[in-house]
Amino acid sequence: MKGKFISLEGGEGSGKTTAIHFIQQWLESNNIPYLMTREPGGTPLAEEIRQLVLSERNETVNDVTELLLVFAARAQHLAEKIQPALEEGTWVISDRFLDSTYVYQGKARGGNVEFLDQLADWVVGSNNPDATLLLDVPVELGLERVVQRQHQDRLDKESIEFHQKVREGFLERASADPQRIKIINASLSLDAVKVQIEKQLIALNHAWSGDV
Ligand SMILES: Nc1ncnc2c1ncn2[C@@H]1O[C@H](COP(=O)(O)OP(=O)(O)OP(=O)(O)O)[C@@H](O)[C@H]1O
Ligand SMILES: [Mg+2]
Repeated sequence: MKGKFISLEGGEGSGKTTAIHFIQQWLESNNIPYLMTREPGGTPLAEEIRQLVLSERNETVNDVTELLLVFAARAQHLAEKIQPALEEGTWVISDRFLDSTYVYQGKARGGNVEFLDQLADWVVGSNNPDATLLLDVPVELGLERVVQRQHQDRLDKESIEFHQKVREGFLERASADPQRIKIINASLSLDAVKVQIEKQLIALNHAWSGDV
């Protein structure tokens, strides 16, 4: 039986990386083989591309360049890591995936959605996540949570309006595809977030239990 593919989405400081740890605990207590990964990145080459995308530079980064780099990393990640793991029955949990591209490079940067659809079709095809947990938090709260962080990358430093578009973009995608994208209220305490995530995992696992 193929593994399941779950992505974590949300803005800066929404709690994606924290949620990954909750998911890891749940998978371990259910004896489910898993692989944790992230985007952009996930393989040595894709991680190098991540550095190219996120590092500060004295040059304007063209929107199309940014978009193609993200998809280049994703092609490598899918072929070398995600697909082989799923084939052998391992669940794959990714900190960000395709929804982030639609939201950051599409909605927030105003990228051409038709072009994005074509790239998604070409690079991702039918390898979309089986489920996505969207950690939703007001922009100010998310940014407050990461403000202590020493290192801020190129996207962390975008304006509040940019991050607001990111939040709206994720919520729009969730309402367009409620079957796949489950919204987690990430403004609540860590314990309350953990409870919501576990509830979703139990429901998904139950729904998938008939799959072959
Ligand atoms: N529900 C919560 N309540 C309080 N603090 C939280 C909560 N969720 C996460 N945090 C804290 O907020 C900070 C950011 O969380 P985390 O790193 O998980 O976010 P992220 O979505 O991965 O951020 P980034 O987009 O920058 O990778 C961490 O210090 C984490 O401990
Ligand atoms: Mg993170």
